[in-house]
Amino acid sequence: MLGGAAEILMLWGFSVWTAVLVAVLLVCPAIMVWGAIQVLRRPTELPLEPVPETRGMSLNWAAPFYDRWCRGCGLGDAFRAETLRHAALQLGERVLDVGCGTGVLTRRAAEAVGPTGRAVGIDPAPKMIARARANAAREGARIAFRLGVIERLPFEDRSFDVVLASLMIHHLPPDVKREGLREVYRVLRPGGRLVVADFDWSRAHPVWRMLAWPLRILPMLRAHAAGRVTPYFVEAGFRPVDLVGRWRWSVSFWVARRPDESRG
Ligand SMILES: C[S@@+](CC[C@H](N)C(=O)[O-])C[C@H]1O[C@@H](n2cnc3c(N)ncnc32)[C@H](O)[C@@H]1O
Repeated sequence: MLGGAAEILMLWGFSVWTAVLVAVLLVCPAIMVWGAIQVLRRPTELPLEPVPETRGMSLNWAAPFYDRWCRGCGLGDAFRAETLRHAALQLGERVLDVGCGTGVLTRRAAEAVGPTGRAVGIDPAPKMIARARANAAREGARIAFRLGVIERLPFEDRSFDVVLASLMIHHLPPDVKREGLREVYRVLRPGGRLVVADFDWSRAHPVWRMLAWPLRILPMLRAHAAGRVTPYFVEAGFRPVDLVGRWRWSVSFWVARRPDESRG
């Protein structure tokens, strides 16, 4: 391409060296722009399953910067460790992370349950799941990440000891919250536990409470701004439902159990 451009310039009466110089100046930027377009157009490695529909707010667009964003908001490693402290995972347990995003918590959960346990993450965002798979592969973690939604969990009844729902319940409109929590109840074994970390501005400092007040107009966030998250767990059948801790100004932790009727 370079030679061709130089020849054309020489036909127009440029000297050899001027023609080469001008050709380089013209052709190099063109190659760089072409290369950049190819890189940007390179398809992301997407999972093969069909993308599930949901009325929850999928965060597909945020996948490339999601982990950095969380760390910047004070929801980094220490927050993940605190979530797992409340989960109190044991070796050999089967754990499901619903709305797992990039799988940052799922990977830690997989370490906690060890090789005799099982860790699974689901999310409706293909780019989140692609990242979660790539991150797990890089760390050599044995985790099944798949596309899925909380309101239609692709698992058998009573197939998990623990379900984690970290920062995802506020992505669901009220009726999807209800459907999703009924599904979580179904896939938990009796005596199993749901561990939730989510926004709960009703317990925040009065200034934050005031700032969060307008969020009540958004159906997904209404319960989180009004301090009415716990009733969703109770309505789905969980008992007891314990508010077990807080993280900074905005997040609460809940542990909700599926009752074990066989224990009377
Ligand atoms: C704020 S991110 C939380 C990700 C991760 N759990 C964490 O703690 O960082 C919320 C996630 O919920 C997912 N989500 C949205 N609707 C969902 C649904 N119906 N079922 C499961 N996950 C859903 C989003 O795609 C997003 O990845």
